[in-house]
Amino acid sequence: MTIRQQRRCLTRGVLLTLLAMGGCSADSGDVPYAPTGSQYQFMTEYLEPPSDVIWGSAGAILTAEGEVDLQPTTDEGWLKVVQAATVVAEGGNLLMMPGLAMDNADWHEYAQGLTRAALQAKRAAQAQDADALFDAGGAIYNVCRACHNQYMAQDEFQ
Ligand code: HEC
Repeated sequence: MTIRQQRRCLTRGVLLTLLAMGGCSADSGDVPYAPTGSQYQFMTEYLEPPSDVIWGSAGAILTAEGEVDLQPTTDEGWLKVVQAATVVAEGGNLLMMPGLAMDNADWHEYAQGLTRAALQAKRAAQAQDADALFDAGGAIYNVCRACHNQYMAQDEFQ
């Protein structure tokens, strides 16, 4: 909260106390947006699919026929990675939304780290640079893991 918001909140708090409502927490609902589902849904339905597109477009896999390069081979293929990276990058912003964020300290650091790593992936895909995309994919993965280490309930670890 900026000082101005705090002041506004205080003023409003005084008024609202008269109405026996009060309360000025960070998620008092005075923003015109809110998560459309649970944190779990955000992870599995919003963040994971585009992340998989990025990870599935970098590096190589071993098959019965030998090593197969995963990097896109067409402009359309690279564009799909650009689009996926844009979704993940914006996801970092969404993670800081009241209702999804668990605090505004380390959580915000991880969220911003996710945006930075995803923008790195986006630039790599725009440049059609497979090595840079592989590195950015690793950076994204590290942020996912770091946040999970800190915030995911231990019994949810697999
Ligand atoms: C800012 C913190 C944070 C970041 C960054 C983050 N997650 Fe999560 N994630 C969580 C939390 C907290 C949960 C537990 C949610 C729950 O169970 O309600 C979770 C749960 C999940 C789950 C469900 C896991 C399960 O065992 O069912 C998946 C899948 C997931 N995250 C994927 C990702 C991916 C992929 C990324 C990176 C692209 C990522 N997350 C980045 C905090 C984060």
